[in-house]
Amino acid sequence: MPSPAFSAPVALSARPGGALRGRLRPPGDKSISHRAIILGLLARGVTEIDGLLEGDDVLRTAAACRALGGEVTRIGDGAWRVSGPGLGALLAPNEPLDFGNAGTGTRLMMGVVGGHGITAAFDGDASLRKRPMRRILDPLTAMGAQVVSESPGGRCPIVLKGCPEPAPILYRTPVASAQIKSAVLLAGLNSPGDVCVIEREASRDHTEKMLVHFGAEVAVTIEGEGRRIVVKGRPRLTAARVVVPADPSSAAFPLVAALITPGSDIVIEGVMMNPLRAGLIATLLEMGAAIDVLDRRNEGGEEVADLRVRASALNGVDVPAARAPSMIDEYPILAVAASFARGGTRMRGLTELQVKESDRLAAVAAGLQAAGVDHTIEGDDLIVRGGAVRGGGVVATHLDHRIAMSFLVLGLAAERGMAIDDGAMIATSYPGFAADMGRLGSHFS
Ligand code: S3P
Repeated sequence: MPSPAFSAPVALSARPGGALRGRLRPPGDKSISHRAIILGLLARGVTEIDGLLEGDDVLRTAAACRALGGEVTRIGDGAWRVSGPGLGALLAPNEPLDFGNAGTGTRLMMGVVGGHGITAAFDGDASLRKRPMRRILDPLTAMGAQVVSESPGGRCPIVLKGCPEPAPILYRTPVASAQIKSAVLLAGLNSPGDVCVIEREASRDHTEKMLVHFGAEVAVTIEGEGRRIVVKGRPRLTAARVVVPADPSSAAFPLVAALITPGSDIVIEGVMMNPLRAGLIATLLEMGAAIDVLDRRNEGGEEVADLRVRASALNGVDVPAARAPSMIDEYPILAVAASFARGGTRMRGLTELQVKESDRLAAVAAGLQAAGVDHTIEGDDLIVRGGAVRGGGVVATHLDHRIAMSFLVLGLAAERGMAIDDGAMIATSYPGFAADMGRLGSHFS
């Protein structure tokens, strides 16, 4: 297992400084990075990955894949090679798999283990131990896996005994979740029949796309019930080259920082524009953000673009619940943008925010409170009434990287700045965050 990139809490603060200027390329997409390593483990041959996110979450997935018999090697900056025993031939790990803070790694690997005749223990940090895993265990047990032990409420630590011949299944996801969908599809890979997932609202499609890239037969159709994904069991998965685009969920932080910091003008390079991840950009454009989408191109099977972002006068908007799956990780930073907008922003349908690395609805509300931002929660809607932001408080980050980065960004434009109690876990998704922001001209202390 990797030694955690963070252990002791690191208090940080941000103050208003000058305008942000310059260019940056955010790190590789976290969702794609996890999946590239996992499919490398399941494929025959050597998978080569460029631009891998070298954050703690992804390193945990790499370590878990090694524990299942894979060879996962770093050969340069973001350049990795993965080869595995292949689908159906994974080894049982000798020790519990410690996923740290990583929900995606945990849930996807539960799918992998659930579809093999091996037993593995899954565990992680205090944040991961609070996250619901029933949503993954239910379909996996329906396919033949067994939960040997679990903590109350279907939480980690969990010991899962996989099934060497998982039953073909038709599964309707109860919530729009790419993690649930992916766990079922990954378990189904080792099934003698087809596995089918139907999602009412489309969630990010990286697993389906990458399965095709590695040679699986995947059929995606839109029908009355929603989006139907069928994967043919026991495919011949062949190693492939994966180029990881810049993570739009990480790009979101410098993007909003530039919008709210007067005089700013920056370019964020190579940002993935997959429509199932682009809800924040659509929302910010509706708010009046000056974002120019430049040089749209295809890189490694995904559309990417450079984003020129200039400081903007934002207006409040109504964000429909249907947009949530395409920007589920971006609500904390959208709430920050909304704090500086004229008028109210209503973000609808945020139930799923409560089961992220922290209860993000509560953590955002507490952060806004600390910053003196007028807001209310009505049901599962968050309403933020923007204007001048006083700031000056300390935000509790609850082991949540996106809460940490969001409120540091708020501090760059709030009258009295802002502090967070702990930013160590930023290393899970954006280890170079402070350095990147420093190059643009904003320094955290
Ligand atoms: C992810 C899916 C989302 C997202 C998470 C990454 C993925 O979770 O919040 O950060 O890579 O599949 P859900 O699928 O639970 O919504």
